[in-house]
Amino acid sequence: MTMMLRITLGILAALAVISSSLADEKKPVDPDLARQGFAFVLTYCGKCHGKGASEGGGEMDVTDPAELVDYGYLVPDDPESSEMWRRVVEGEMPPEGEPQPAARDAEIFRRWIAAGAPKPVYFPMQKRLKMRSRTSSV
Ligand code: HEC
Repeated sequence: MTMMLRITLGILAALAVISSSLADEKKPVDPDLARQGFAFVLTYCGKCHGKGASEGGGEMDVTDPAELVDYGYLVPDDPESSEMWRRVVEGEMPPEGEPQPAARDAEIFRRWIAAGAPKPVYFPMQKRLKMRSRTSSV
């Protein structure tokens, strides 16, 4: 093999490794799931957890999904290991007396965590209100 060919093959091999690792990180995100999952946490948890919360629920800030992951409240791809999901499943959160999510909405939350809890690129705030009015039939 000539030196030149050897270098070229080396570069090609390196590029293949780089591009396959980029492909791994960029999982395609369903934009509807990103919006609905984010709407879920804003609607059912945002009152007490996060920027603009009117009641105290500690440091957890649901307006920043990346932070939820960093602080370990959510384990991306693994709802069952996620503290937030555990609290919802066990009926601890939202607390008694607060609007409770329908099973269908909770399932969206689970799928959102399983998808890595993506924050939507574009998020109209009316979504939150629509969801709240549809489900708060208490
Ligand atoms: C009405 C207010 C309220 C709402 C709504 C609410 N929470 Fe909470 N949450 C609290 C309070 C108060 C605490 C602290 C006491 C405790 O740990 O039980 C808490 C604690 C937590 C914790 C533990 C936080 C920590 O720092 O360890 C998690 C996780 C949690 N909530 C998840 C949720 C999720 C998920 C939702 C939405 C589905 C939600 N909460 C909605 C009031 C609320």
